Amino acid sequence: SAGVSVKEFAELIGQRPADVVRKLMEMGQMVTFNQSINLEAASLIAEEYGAKVEVSTEKAGEALLEEAAQSSGEEHAVPRPPVVTIMGHVDHGKTSLLDAIRQTKVAEGEAGGITQHIGAYMVGVRDKQVTFLDTPGHEAFTAMRARGAKATDIVILVVAADDGVMPQTVEAIHHAKAAGVPLIVAINKVDKPGANVDRVKNALTEHGLVAESWGGDTIMVEVSAKQRTGLDNLLEMILLQAEVLELKADPERMAKGLVIEAKLDRGRGPIATVLVQSGTLHVGDAFVVGNFSGRVRALVTDTGKKTVEAGPSVPVEVIGLPGVPSAGDVFTIVKDERVAREIAQERAMKQRAADLAGPAKVSLDDLFAKI
Ligand code: GTP
Ligand code: MG
Repeated sequence: SAGVSVKEFAELIGQRPADVVRKLMEMGQMVTFNQSINLEAASLIAEEYGAKVEVSTEKAGEALLEEAAQSSGEEHAVPRPPVVTIMGHVDHGKTSLLDAIRQTKVAEGEAGGITQHIGAYMVGVRDKQVTFLDTPGHEAFTAMRARGAKATDIVILVVAADDGVMPQTVEAIHHAKAAGVPLIVAINKVDKPGANVDRVKNALTEHGLVAESWGGDTIMVEVSAKQRTGLDNLLEMILLQAEVLELKADPERMAKGLVIEAKLDRGRGPIATVLVQSGTLHVGDAFVVGNFSGRVRALVTDTGKKTVEAGPSVPVEVIGLPGVPSAGDVFTIVKDERVAREIAQERAMKQRAADLAGPAKVSLDDLFAKI
């Protein structure tokens, strides 16, 4: 974005041009007085001097993005499927419950029966669609659960009736609360001899969840993923809750979504599972995700079928990325590849600058490992 030169910019923020050039050099940018300064660099430098950069007529990519997000409201908003995240302590039966709902056998195929990633699936419930996200219960995956809670409309908290309220049960309650998301409790494994539903309900009251049957307002459903009991009731509650939320999105705008997971596939290259949150994603669309930009080469559904588009609440694999983004990254469609590239470059530069400016994060262990 050609606009303000380094010299003019320095004058604007009341600093000596030489100092600004030095700061730019520290950020890895070699520019002279008369070359133009881009928005990212200008913002960073202004921030250091306690000034603020406001974009006027010359709009940089990121500013365009924000503007697009604000102006394109939800003019053609139509109902969209709820996004439901399954959470709970390790081994309490989250994947089994989802399998029972999908009537497939994913849990058996998992390495050691532990969910290593967030699976995203769409399930038809009568004439409606529901998007389910499975999360790992293992304590190492706190960040994934936090992300899951953010991407979701409803949390299903799975609690094994024989094991009761455990650390990741409590953590999931906190994530749901922090994200302001309604929560439905599925008390699972009620088929087991050691099952004690009242004990679970009692323990949950200590965390602010009081069952409706006990005069509270938390929906609690007894299920057995193994024997496939209580599933209709659970699905019923999900649909009811979704109805109350009146979930809508505009499928006509440019898509925006969240990266649920990403990996490098040997044959197909980098692949990101994106949950479309608004708009419709099409093959051929120009996108930005993290510091990457590109064009959607192919879209693959949760059932492995190729598709040409994916609307709101639909999880879809995106192929055509130049690298592997991070789970939790926002995936945004922009007007064309040039804008996409610009934004990605700005972000990459900002990150480099932040890396350079940030405090040293090297620990003694790291140092010794390198010697
Ligand atoms: P992570 O993904 O590792 O957190 O586990 P998870 O919560 O997805 O649990 P998973 O579905 O893998 O189930 C754990 C174990 O509990 C498996 O051996 C299941 O067969 C068993 N299980 C799940 N649901 C039930 C149930 O309703 N009844 C009984 N008896 N066993 C169940
Ligand atoms: Mg699992």
